[in-house]
Parts: sequence; structure tokens; C-alpha cells
Amino acid sequence: MNFSLQQNATELSAGSSVILPLAKAAEGHDDLITPCLKAADELLNGAITHAIASGDLSGKFKSSQLFLNAGSGPDRILVIGTGVADQLTGRKYHQLVQSAWSQISSNPGPSVLNQLTTIQTKNLDLNSKVRLTVEAIVQACYRFDQFKTTPKDVPPSTDMILLADTSSQVQLDQSVATAQAMDLCRDLGNLPGNICTPSYLAEQGHKLAAGSDKVTTQVLEEAEMETLGMHSLLSVGRGSAEPSKLIVINYQGGEKGAQPHVLVGKGITFDSGGISIKPGAAMDEMKYDMCGAASVMGTMQAVIKMDLKVNLVVIVASAENMPSSTASKPGDIFTTMSGKTVEVLNTDAEGRLVLCDALTYAERFKPKTVVDVATLTGACIIALGHHTSAVLSNDDAFATSLMSAGKQAFDHAWQLPMGEEYQAQLDSNFADLGNIGGRAAGTITAACFLSRFAESFTWAHLDIAGTAWTSGAKKGSTGRCVPLLVQHIVNQA
Ligand code: BES
Ligand code: MN
Ligand code: ZN
Repeated sequence: MNFSLQQNATELSAGSSVILPLAKAAEGHDDLITPCLKAADELLNGAITHAIASGDLSGKFKSSQLFLNAGSGPDRILVIGTGVADQLTGRKYHQLVQSAWSQISSNPGPSVLNQLTTIQTKNLDLNSKVRLTVEAIVQACYRFDQFKTTPKDVPPSTDMILLADTSSQVQLDQSVATAQAMDLCRDLGNLPGNICTPSYLAEQGHKLAAGSDKVTTQVLEEAEMETLGMHSLLSVGRGSAEPSKLIVINYQGGEKGAQPHVLVGKGITFDSGGISIKPGAAMDEMKYDMCGAASVMGTMQAVIKMDLKVNLVVIVASAENMPSSTASKPGDIFTTMSGKTVEVLNTDAEGRLVLCDALTYAERFKPKTVVDVATLTGACIIALGHHTSAVLSNDDAFATSLMSAGKQAFDHAWQLPMGEEYQAQLDSNFADLGNIGGRAAGTITAACFLSRFAESFTWAHLDIAGTAWTSGAKKGSTGRCVPLLVQHIVNQA
């Protein structure tokens, strides 16, 4: 799919499709016939006004009719109701775009002139509409069928032209980069654990560096991590035949010597729980336990594509968490790279064990800010459900800036508190800290654990356990929280 902008709607080339919005008027008034609808109605010999008069079409949200046009002008004209325009939210607008697209996607023709960007609503500016249109359509075209012997359907390739003035060109380019980054994130997430191993993620890290001379990728092997004293990270992969990796991708788009922003991703390519093994139901979904890694790698891809003037370091802490005779056991004590000792009371709380050493490693970059991203706790799903990611930080202003990046990107996150009173739940009788904090406030105590390794910089933690993938019939990776992260880096550049 190729996206572009067009300033005005006068030229509708033959063979193409047009999407026109029909806004619902206030109570007691007729729905709004815009000049574009009027022109289309004339082309169709009054078919649109007839459909409205007969009740087959209205300004009601998602009410729609596809008109085929045998005469001059576009082959298809899709008219879709927007509801009362001022009641449109970002979420509803996204639904509207996908609903419109689904009705022409089987045969859109060589180009589509999409006029949904012209809907006037107090909630959404033009850039937001451009962003949502691109992301909604790229998402609708996403397929993951590389393991099906016969793919179900192939998404059409068409030129998607958005009606918007050129002031939105930067937003369009950034939206396309973000949407493609979400596709990468979705692909990495959906790949099964027998393919997407720590070594596979390392290869993808090298691939990101291949296309740009501003990027270098370094992969630390187990022996090097041993030398660095990353015994906590290494403890997680001890029961697995797959070697653990620390993947470091360095993008230098900013001034030489300018402090970088760092993103750290949890890359557990399968989380069986280890010796504290998980129950069998839905355990396959623990292939998604590397979605933090996938989202920071996607973000790196977008930042490279956008050629942002910023320095960015992405660190992926990757291991497979398996039970075996060499696996770590409850009660085992390991020394982290920071020198602090950890008692592993539950081998299923492995994410924090890989992240803590990655955070200590991040210190060497003298970072301006550090954000770690992880499918860290089931408790996060209980707290915020599947709609909102959790933010926890040692700096409230930084947490607020991440929440507003999420708001800007329609990829919402909400701050949870992290007062020192929670820290005591991590006390251990035998080591500096335990790796679990009991049932209460599981997301907060997990972040408290990480905060002990982030004392020397401005840091935030994003728990995406509820937002990174969808379960059930539509099982699949969502690509979150790539939009939030990309916007965060854009805002720093
Ligand atoms: N990867 C899981 C968290 C998770 C579980 C995310 C289900 C999404 C869905 C993590 O490694 C884990 O197992 N966490 C434990 C921590 C507990 C042992 C303190 C959890 O949340 O149960
Ligand atoms: Mn776990
Ligand atoms: Zn996990």
C-alpha cells in the first residue's frame, strides 16, 4: 500500500474508488450534504439522495452504501455515515476507517481517494486523522500466514490518497513509518517460539543495522555476559538449550556525544515459567513474552526510517525460560551485574531478572532517559485490562510525558504509583532482594524491583502485558506500544 496526500477533491481519476463521509446532523435536521457528496450525487444521477430518502443510507455511525458508477469518474463511490461528527473519538474514527476500507478492500482499483480526513470534529485535528487513517488501513491489511500452506487472501495493493493539505506530509511519513514498525512488531510477536529464539532476535537486530550507516548492532553472547557479571539474566536461560543474548542496537542520528535515549525490551522468546511452571491453558501465548523486545526493535526501525536527529540505544534482553535439570530453582541466589544479590523465589518472575542486568548495562551509555518495555505481570491485566498499558517511573514528570506521547499516538498508558512503601514487599531473608513481592500490587512491586537497578538515571517502565496481544479467535500481536514509543522519541528529537 502506497500512501500520499492530495490537496483538493476535484480530480477523481477513472478506475478508482472514493470514500465520502456523511455526517449526522443535530436532532430534527437533515444529514449534511457536503459539496463533494452533491457532486458525487450528480455523477450517480441522484442515487445518493435517493438512498438517503429511502432510508438505505444515513449519517448514522457506519451506515454505508457502495455505489457503482458506470459513467465518467470513479468506478466506486462509498458513502459512510460518521455519526455526529463531534462525538467521534480517535477510537471511533479508527473503526470508521476500517469499516469503510473493508467494503472496498476486495477490489479497490488502482487508487482510493479517502476523504474521511475531511470530517470536521472538535476531538481530532488533521494530523490525528492522517495518523489514524494510515494505522487503521495498514492494520487491516496485516496478514500472518507464512505458516499456512495456502494463504487465505492477499491484501490488495492500491494507492491510498488522503485528502489533506501538505502541512500533514511530515505526519503522513511518520505514520507510515510507525505503521510499518507495528507490522514488524506484530510479525516478531506472532512468530512461534521454535523460530523466534534469542538467536533469531539477534539476527533481526543485525538486519536493522544493515540498511543505515548510523546504526551499529552488537550482540553479547553468554560468555561475555558472564564476564560482565550478568548472572541474573543468565540464570533465566540456564534451563534452555537456546543461548541467551543481549542485543544492543545503537542509532546515532543526533549530535556526536549527545546523551542517548535508551529503550530496553524484555525478550523472553518463550516463558514456560521454568521450574515454577505455568498451567497448560493458553501457555502458547507465552511466545508473546518477547513483545517488549519487538516493540523497541520496531521503534528503532521507525526512527531509522524517519532519520530522526536523536541518539537512541535499544537493548534487548533475550532468553528462553524453560524447566530442566540445569534450570534455576526457587531459592537459588544470583549476583546481578550491579552487585546486588537476588533470591529467586519464583522462576516465573523472570522478566525482571533479565531486565535488571540490561538496566545496569544501560548505565554505560550515560542515558538522558531509559524506558523499559515488558509483558511483565499478569497483575497488570487485572489492574488496567487490555486497553491501557501501565507506566511506572522514578520521575513523575517523565511518566506524564510518556502518557501524553501515548495520548498523542492513540496508544494509551496510565501511571501507577510506586511509593517507597511498596519496596518492603521485596525483602528477602537471604539476599538483597527477592524477585517477587506477594499477591498485592504485583505490577507495582515488579516495577519496584526494576527501580533498584535504575537509580542513576531518569527511568520509566511500561508494562504491556494486557496490550501487546489479543487472545481468542482473533489471537495475534497488536503492535503496541510502538506508537507511544515512536512518539516519545519524536518528542525528544
Ligand atoms: N510473562 C509473564 C507475565 C504475563 C502473564 C503476561 C500472562 C501476560 C499474560 C511473567 O513472566 C510472569 O510470569 N509473571 C508472573 C509474576 C509472578 C510470579 C510474581 C505473574 O504475573 O504471574
Ligand atoms: Mn514468567
Ligand atoms: Zn514472562
